[in-house]
Amino acid sequence: MPIETTPTFVAEPAADAQFVAVPFGRDLAPPTDLPLPVDALLAHYEAKGEPGEVVEVPVALGSGIRRVLLYGVGGGSAADLRKAGASVARKVKGGARVWIRVPETGDAAALAEGALLASYTFRIGAVRTPPDIVFVGGDEEALRRGETVARATALARDLVNTPASIKSPAWLADQAREVAASAGLGFREDSALDGFGGIRAVGQGSAQPPRLVELTYAPEGATRHVVLVGKGITFDTGGLSLKPEEGMKTMKTDMAGGAAVIAVMGALATAGVPVRVTGLVACAENAFSGSAQRPGDVITQYGGRTVEVLNTDAEGRLVLADALAYADAELAPDILIDIATLTGAAKIALGLRLGALYATDDPLAAELVAAGEATGERLWRMPLIDDYRADLDSDIADLANVDRKMSGSAGSVAAALFLREFAGGRPWAHLDVAGPARATADDGEITKGGTGFGVRLLLSYLASLG
Ligand code: BES
Ligand code: MN
Ligand code: ZN
Repeated sequence: MPIETTPTFVAEPAADAQFVAVPFGRDLAPPTDLPLPVDALLAHYEAKGEPGEVVEVPVALGSGIRRVLLYGVGGGSAADLRKAGASVARKVKGGARVWIRVPETGDAAALAEGALLASYTFRIGAVRTPPDIVFVGGDEEALRRGETVARATALARDLVNTPASIKSPAWLADQAREVAASAGLGFREDSALDGFGGIRAVGQGSAQPPRLVELTYAPEGATRHVVLVGKGITFDTGGLSLKPEEGMKTMKTDMAGGAAVIAVMGALATAGVPVRVTGLVACAENAFSGSAQRPGDVITQYGGRTVEVLNTDAEGRLVLADALAYADAELAPDILIDIATLTGAAKIALGLRLGALYATDDPLAAELVAAGEATGERLWRMPLIDDYRADLDSDIADLANVDRKMSGSAGSVAAALFLREFAGGRPWAHLDVAGPARATADDGEITKGGTGFGVRLLLSYLASLG
């Protein structure tokens, strides 16, 4: 469910406010209604002012109690404030109203982002009421920027967390249509998929047919054009190259790249992104059935290249290859970026917090890494090792979808090399987010389940383009 809480902005907390969060740390004036000197209180709780620290102090409020939450802000960096906001929100149980005093320095957007994202919940059945957040003071425009980014991230989380029993390719396309309608984007949905041999082959085993979604954003005066491509596998059984039970149970997450693209597209106008952006989401269910593609089948990707499908579980690259080739041939973008839960190998290499970045263009790579650092969605650049490219040769087709020699090593590199073949030599970046797309526990602004990884970094990157 999207972020249910709608933050409000006021200058002072109400006289009867029961939950008041006040920053502490360098150069911050302590609240005046504390029962003890603030230094004594902090010393007693051994609080150092680090982000994430919250010291709760009960004070008298008429005949009842006010709970003052002293929250550490560290050095006041964006990362510190994100963490601080998240910690405050996590202290508030149920639907209680919390008045968060915004520190006077530092990026208030990060504080709002942290507080709102930590309040995110996804439930089917009995609902958990999120905290009712009121920001006190601070730069309202910045706080609203944080809200925009948090809402977009929450939308991506919702799409990822929705079970695959609901989330067919057509359902995902419908969600994109709704986002387009409310954000004023162009929308096109293709179910015939003529020429899209990869998307069709992956989808052919499912009772729920595949889709290609195209969202368009064209602000006045834009000169550059960026195309975003998302992997939208609504469930990945592995196909006939069936996944083991352990690997399959989280595979509703396999459309997280597509979810990020839909969510980013929906926020472009509000975030004031100045460039033209097209979002493509290749939606299919990789099912196991009598009509599924077989290992050894040869398919024809968009544009005519043939691929021998040696492993039907390497399906993401097949749907992405079509979308990338289509973007290259029909949309002529200046920059092409795909985002996908593509390989377990990326997850093994970098774990659950970093995305793997591959790029054919150094400035593009540097800008994406910088956007990742700024937003807390970190990327680590990985090499496109040309020596390994020949391992994707096929005996009978133009390419094989998995490497035959490396026997599974450098699997994330091999997948990236496969995709590069379809980017037409354009400045291209590939984000393999198999690790960070899903979290195993709440942590700061991250919530267990779908994380919406990529939304914040892509919005930040796109907003920085002239
Ligand atoms: N969707 C998976 C990758 C994945 C794994 C995402 C774990 C999130 C968590 C992808 O389609 C896949 O199955 N990749 C295979 C490729 C292999 C067959 C070359 C993999 O990583 O095992
Ligand atoms: Mn797979
Ligand atoms: Zn997959």
